[in-house]
Amino acid sequence: MWWLKAVVISASVCLVLGKRDFPPDFVFGAASAAYQVEGAWNVSDKSVSIWDYFAHTYPEKIVNNATGDIACDSYNKWKTDIELVSELGLHFYRFSISWTRLMPTGFPDYISEDGKRYYNNIIDTLLEKKIQPVVTMYHFDLPQSLQDLGGWTNPLVADWFANYARVVFSLFGDRVKTWLTLNEPISFCDIAYNVGTQAPGYISPGIGNYICNKNTMLAHAKAYRVYDKEFRSKQNGKVSLANQILWLEPDTDVDGEAAEKARQLMGGMYSHPIFSKQGGWPPVIEKIIAEKSKEEGLPYSRLPAFTKEEIELVKGTYDYMGFNFYTSRTVRDAKPGEKIGAWPFEGAPDIDIVIGVRPEWKQTDAWWLYITPEGIRKQLAWLKKEYGDIEILITENGCASSNADVDDEVRVQYYKEHLEQVLLAIKEDGVKVTGYTAWTLMDNYEWTDGYSIKFGLHHVDFENPNRTRTPRSSADYYASVVKSHSLDVNNKIIDEL
Ligand SMILES: *[C@@H]1O[C@H](CO)[C@@H](O)[C@H](O)[C@H]1NC(C)=O
Ligand SMILES: *[C@@H]1O[C@H](CO)[C@@H](O)[C@H](O)[C@H]1NC(C)=O
Ligand SMILES: *[C@@H]1O[C@H](CO)[C@@H](O)[C@H](O)[C@H]1NC(C)=O
Repeated sequence: MWWLKAVVISASVCLVLGKRDFPPDFVFGAASAAYQVEGAWNVSDKSVSIWDYFAHTYPEKIVNNATGDIACDSYNKWKTDIELVSELGLHFYRFSISWTRLMPTGFPDYISEDGKRYYNNIIDTLLEKKIQPVVTMYHFDLPQSLQDLGGWTNPLVADWFANYARVVFSLFGDRVKTWLTLNEPISFCDIAYNVGTQAPGYISPGIGNYICNKNTMLAHAKAYRVYDKEFRSKQNGKVSLANQILWLEPDTDVDGEAAEKARQLMGGMYSHPIFSKQGGWPPVIEKIIAEKSKEEGLPYSRLPAFTKEEIELVKGTYDYMGFNFYTSRTVRDAKPGEKIGAWPFEGAPDIDIVIGVRPEWKQTDAWWLYITPEGIRKQLAWLKKEYGDIEILITENGCASSNADVDDEVRVQYYKEHLEQVLLAIKEDGVKVTGYTAWTLMDNYEWTDGYSIKFGLHHVDFENPNRTRTPRSSADYYASVVKSHSLDVNNKIIDEL
């Protein structure tokens, strides 16, 4: 009865295979960001960004006083980077444009020929290799000259950004079809202004973060409207932003309401104005902060209101949703009088909640990154429930280590478990996830962690002036997933049959 056995086996293999295959159009990529990889901070006519300034001015805030002055030297090694992307077999490469390299004054009065050439080279070489460029316009590196005028807390920043976006669309939009305006405004608004461990390093909790939050929404929206009016009909691309959202779950059964309130603060502040039907701030948060502000004796809310026109301007400014996921947290109501730490990692003083972790969650070498693969599926389901059946591109996901080994089993496992949950979100929950981006192509400058924390599919030797890149086990694993378009890689049974 060998034939019967063979039929049974092949039927079950097909079933299993089908279950672990990604949808045919699903795309895979890897990401990087200008300040984290380029180096060449002072070449040609490039001006100083807030990260150049922050790393040089506050070395004590950064592990080993590290700067991105040289980083991976991708300014010179961009061809090697594209080779790495090509060897992984990826469909796209997500990278960011340095505002100060392309537009050194911050304003469109002057475009750097050197900056233009650098990004044209990357885009053209990617396309020659049939790799789509996915381009982030802003990944934390504001021109310092604009910071001196208030940066993200000056309402004019929305127009400054839209003018920059117009230059970027006009130079590169004939070839770039997937755009991200802003990467993780929660990092450069909330972590920056509540905690101070992101440039500009100016701490103004409960005030600066909200002003920044509102201005990022307007900046994104104005850039999107520029695309709509001036470029979309010719260029036919897609525009969104990338939000990092930590999945938040109730600490115990009684904390369900606290968790949902916290999700509105975490996921809602940078999504509700854009992706919801009503637009504007998440109502529950807007109400609570207005009440708090009143109790504090303020005649207005610390959370700046949107005008009716602004709500309409921002609402619906998306063609898909960019979602960065790394980790999860627990949430509980604060006890009366309890001191509450800073948002987003310790608590949220404005909504009286305390953030924690579960003892069983495995911590990586990054203090903030606990491994919680089910969180990505739950967050995807929440986004669908809140904002509808929107196309979602996972724009970052990855695992930290302080260990530089190329045999990185923990990272392989992290990718495998998260991709499994992404598949479940697609197949069981019907979430329209259309692609996945590994963070990151290679070890790089991890902001205040300097070079001490690594996320790379490739190891980079920062002691070697060549910044030699070496693929890790996770690169091999990811390449095999991409090649088989499935989580069933190296399926021995198929070979035996
Ligand atoms: C880092 O910078 C601080 C302040 O400038 C200095 O005191 C310290 O010695 C430096 N540490 C290292 C490891 O270079
Ligand atoms: C650029 O910065 C490097 C340090 O990273 C320094 O050695 C070099 O002299 C600077 N070049 C210019 C043109 O200022
Ligand atoms: C850097 O690369 C060049 C060219 O491949 C090679 O000749 C040189 O030995 C390398 N340097 C180091 C320190 O590895």
